[in-house]
Amino acid sequence: MDLEIGLLGCGTVGAGVVSLVRRRADKVAQMTGLRPKIKSILVRDLNKDRGVVFEHEQLTGRPEDVLQDDGIQIVIETIGGIEPAKTYILEALRRNKHVVTANKDLIAIHGPEILRVAEENHVSVLFEAAVGGAIPLVGPLKENLTANEVTDLKGIINGTTNFILSEMTSRDIDFEEALTMAQELGYAEADPSSDVDGLDAARKLVILSSIAFQTEVHLTDVRVEGIRHVRSKDVRYADELGYVIKLLAVGRDHGGELTLSVRPTLIPKVHPLAHVSDAYNALYVRGDAAGDLMFFGRGAGSMPTASAVVGDVIALVRNLKLGYVASSPQGTLSVKPVVDREDERYKYYFRLLAHDQPGVFARVAQLFGEAHASMETVLQKRVQSGCAEIVIVTHDISSAKSRYLVDQLQNLPQLHSVECVMPVEPVTE
Ligand SMILES: NC(=O)c1ccc[n+]([C@@H]2O[C@H](COP(=O)([O-])OP(=O)(O)OC[C@H]3O[C@@H](n4cnc5c(N)ncnc54)[C@H](OP(=O)(O)O)[C@@H]3O)[C@@H](O)[C@H]2O)c1
Repeated sequence: MDLEIGLLGCGTVGAGVVSLVRRRADKVAQMTGLRPKIKSILVRDLNKDRGVVFEHEQLTGRPEDVLQDDGIQIVIETIGGIEPAKTYILEALRRNKHVVTANKDLIAIHGPEILRVAEENHVSVLFEAAVGGAIPLVGPLKENLTANEVTDLKGIINGTTNFILSEMTSRDIDFEEALTMAQELGYAEADPSSDVDGLDAARKLVILSSIAFQTEVHLTDVRVEGIRHVRSKDVRYADELGYVIKLLAVGRDHGGELTLSVRPTLIPKVHPLAHVSDAYNALYVRGDAAGDLMFFGRGAGSMPTASAVVGDVIALVRNLKLGYVASSPQGTLSVKPVVDREDERYKYYFRLLAHDQPGVFARVAQLFGEAHASMETVLQKRVQSGCAEIVIVTHDISSAKSRYLVDQLQNLPQLHSVECVMPVEPVTE
């Protein structure tokens, strides 16, 4: 018996979904007695070449052909963005259709509302593809690790910035050149701001944290800093000091209080996350029973993302066969405040541009000493006539102290500028 599916959008991910559903239809039919079949596909341009040959699937420009077709039981949304995706998903749920979506923007911002409407209508919303592409993250956090109190999430969850930072490292090129390469290879969009300014990673962190810490988390809770100010010299100095720079998303549960951040971070070369290069993604999870786990793989692309979408579809088909509706994947058990913990301690990397005068370094050292911020490593480099660069890695200091130091350094007449400040991830904790 056919199980009819409607697909909203048929771009990079949607075209992969069409191919993979066809490829797996027989297997699913053998497993469940239900053969998934995409019936209608909503697009804007009916004549566009999509790199996929349509067989029985009907392309349409009318959303009602998908949403108001009573035969369709599952709607897959791969349009992206907030509207019209949100309106279509809510209508599908209200018409008692199960929904699978790859839309991180929508789930990060409107996830609670969408899950509530699904629950009210006794249908499921699954969104494994919204974070980490092919890598199973939502499922393990929601199901397999549910016996744990998860205390830490640390991830490289934006492939574009990881590609850019990897190219800056391996080719010794600056941010702009690496960004152009990423755009030419299709890893970055024409407007790359959502990726390079950290927003995309922040949205994914919101989704992962809501599930892992079982609370409602909002985008405004995340302290976000992108990678535009990271220069190739930071990458070189980090290398000299034994680190690589990654855009790290971190969610931490400090006994009921959460801290959430996305920011460029120095990672020791011996840390497993240091080896996650190119457009790959990885998530490091710490649970009180499981200990440390790391998930790694392709975080984007047509077939890797389709793998997660179609995995959700097959889970739904199985559930439909059993007459079972999956519970809300984001069951909120408690309210955990998200705070900016001034006492959170890290080592910090400072790159300072100083006037090349006698006594400058002594003055900088005095300032750190007065703030009780001891220095672990110092590099001094002459960069251009009249200016010298000072790179300092501190021992552990609080985030409040790192901010205090920046304020004080900016007021130092001998200093031209504070060029870059980044936290340093510990090897192990
Ligand atoms: N690309 C990835 O690697 C990746 C990875 C993980 C998650 N995702 C998520 O997956 C979703 C889809 O991404 P994508 O890269 O596949 O996007 P895409 O290539 O831009 O495809 C979007 C599709 O939606 C259709 N569409 C857009 N606006 C529409 C509208 N108003 N009405 C009807 N159809 C509309 C487009 O139709 P036309 O083709 O006719 O223009 C196109 O087929 C996004 O939420 C994205 O964040 C993507």
